[in-house]
Amino acid sequence: MYSLARELLFKLSPETSHELSIDLIGAGGRLGLNGLLTKAPTSLPVNVMGLQFANPVGLAAGLDKNGDAIDGFAQLGFGFVEIGTVTPRPQPGNPKPRLFRLPEAEAVINRMGFNNHGVDRLLERVKAAKFKGVLGINIGKNFDTPVERAVDDYLVCLDKVYAHASYVTVNVSSPNTPGLRSLQFGDSLKELLEALRRRQEDLAQEHGKRVPLAIKIAPDMSDEETALVASALLGADMDAVIATNTTLSREGVEGLAHGDEAGGLSGAPVRDKSTHIVKVLAGELSGRLPIIAVGGITEGKHAAEKIAAGASLVQIYSGFIYKGPALIREAVDAIAALRK
Ligand SMILES: Cc1cc2nc3c(=O)[nH]c(=O)nc-3n(C[C@H](O)[C@H](O)[C@H](O)COP(=O)(O)O)c2cc1C
Repeated sequence: MYSLARELLFKLSPETSHELSIDLIGAGGRLGLNGLLTKAPTSLPVNVMGLQFANPVGLAAGLDKNGDAIDGFAQLGFGFVEIGTVTPRPQPGNPKPRLFRLPEAEAVINRMGFNNHGVDRLLERVKAAKFKGVLGINIGKNFDTPVERAVDDYLVCLDKVYAHASYVTVNVSSPNTPGLRSLQFGDSLKELLEALRRRQEDLAQEHGKRVPLAIKIAPDMSDEETALVASALLGADMDAVIATNTTLSREGVEGLAHGDEAGGLSGAPVRDKSTHIVKVLAGELSGRLPIIAVGGITEGKHAAEKIAAGASLVQIYSGFIYKGPALIREAVDAIAALRK
């Protein structure tokens, strides 16, 4: 059934088809219809970061940036839903075109640039949703906030989303906001993590609940850099790491139509890079911090590979565009098979 929908959607521009999909998934969710579109995945509950997940396969950030279709995505079978990246103020993102499909490579290139309606509008959507499962809210900085003051934007977002999120993801790895990735390194990372941790403590007191903080990192790091990130995360007592965001590499898409567009590459070509980062993190963290793996899952077995590499949970974005909701069930089944 999805192959027919895909044929129609792929006739539209990527961004139009994205908007239409969010509208349809959102409308289906409000009517409670999406469960009829696909067979529900097997129940495979897992406990990570002190949270109970219906299954370990989640929706990655960036598909539902504004939280418009939370119930709809949950009904398709995702074990958890991450919305955002959201910024303090609404912003339009980069000029169009900024989203490209590379079907021969099961890949996507995007330079969206955190287009979103702002944190206040996102919270209205969250409050209107009926979903009672795990909801991650991914936060970032406005494009015109200087990177030296990025921490202020993260704190504004953290304050606002804290009471409404199951966990909060700190996105320091989008390649489309100039300077953002510099926050992954050295003193910038330490200062950011310490500020977030202090605020998390205050908010935990205020709200009587501790909401876990996850940091989302890029795949474009050496093993040494990954090890430094791991030790900074442990030092700052973070709750999870999400690996990875999109890559700046063009390996696997050279010579393809749109292969040289600027932005972050996702889908099949980022798979091995992301899994490698998961392996390095797993070696450094020795189970002290859970890993959420994302990047290039286009078949169930790729989700199982990420778990075997040391992840506790996985997320999907590009694979969902190419394979549709059946991929969620396939991924859950492949992970369940690992446990047998
Ligand atoms: C069009 C598009 C927009 C994205 N936007 C975000 C975002 O706003 N925040 C974020 O943390 N990741 C964002 N991502 C990255 C994905 O969440 C994911 O980390 C990456 O695409 C690798 O997974 P995949 O190969 O399954 O797509 C975006 C990805 C795509 C393709």
